[in-house]
Amino acid sequence: MYSQGLDQRDDAPRRVDDPAATAHDSALHARFDERVDAEEKIEPNDWMPDSYRRTLIRQISQHAHSEVIGMQPEGNWITRAPSLRRKAVLLAKVQDEAGHGLYLYAAAETLGVTREELVDQLLEGRAKYSSIFNYPTLTWADMGAIGWLVDGAAIMNQVPLCRCSYGPYARAMVRICKEESFHQRQGFEIMLTLSRGTAEQTAMAQDALDRWWWPALMMFGPHDSESTHSEQSMAWKIKRFSNDELRQKFVDATVPQAKFLGLRVPDDDLHYDDATGHYVFGEPDWSEFAAVLRGEGPCNAQRMAHRRRAHDEGRWVREAAEAHAAKHPRSGGTPVGPEAQQWANAGVRA
Ligand SMILES: [Fe+2]
Ligand SMILES: [Fe+2]
Repeated sequence: MYSQGLDQRDDAPRRVDDPAATAHDSALHARFDERVDAEEKIEPNDWMPDSYRRTLIRQISQHAHSEVIGMQPEGNWITRAPSLRRKAVLLAKVQDEAGHGLYLYAAAETLGVTREELVDQLLEGRAKYSSIFNYPTLTWADMGAIGWLVDGAAIMNQVPLCRCSYGPYARAMVRICKEESFHQRQGFEIMLTLSRGTAEQTAMAQDALDRWWWPALMMFGPHDSESTHSEQSMAWKIKRFSNDELRQKFVDATVPQAKFLGLRVPDDDLHYDDATGHYVFGEPDWSEFAAVLRGEGPCNAQRMAHRRRAHDEGRWVREAAEAHAAKHPRSGGTPVGPEAQQWANAGVRA
């Protein structure tokens, strides 16, 4: 589904090198900068600065965690979808989010970290995921608002990531964005159906917009003036637009859609500025944003408890998959047991 404020970098630890090594590193660094400036993709085996690698691992893994945790608010409604068609579509959408998590963990692994390590970071509370998934889904209209606004914001954030300087991340994002586009449209279609329905259905759609509008704006992260690490990510061409630029693009694209639905965006300051050609909008409640990031959102504890439980309950599946892979080395498993070991020693693949 989405990434947020995930553009922070670690500073590489200072080290004292001998002069020859320093000169060698400087040459590699200069070549890396040239390639990034020339819009060449950096691939897993290419030299890259440690801080670039760590920034990407953090951003991609937090993005993956967001996709996986992001299944929960909507998964909660699969059994209560109002028709078989809605159920099938929602199920497909939630499955897509699981797939996004998998592509992204795989992209992160190309940087030299294991998926197990990344999952442990999430389960132990050492890694963040997007704040938006810590809000509850109270009515069916929330499925519409999430697809329309949350996946809509995700697209705004993620389309530029298709041009990210790191090849595996950029390529994963191409497919993800195609699916996010479907998600956004199915959400908008739910909102359209409700807003053209009974007075009660229209009220449900308005209530969902009221509750999701501000959290959706917060998905773009803090103001540029507060986002101290964005500059480096822009220089590395991981990030292409600032948080405020993306937020503005989202508001400009979404407000006319709300008008088309006949719904009111819950912002008294919202108006169109003829001079700039952009909508002017109010200020999100940044103290709420900070609280949700600190783990104090309405559903933080519930989301993590559920993820830990799902991880524990899925242990037998992982163990069975490993056992199967070990018995079938051709499918990529490590041979174990005397027979498999014999094959391995003989260089034979069953
Ligand atoms: Fe999505
Ligand atoms: Fe997604």
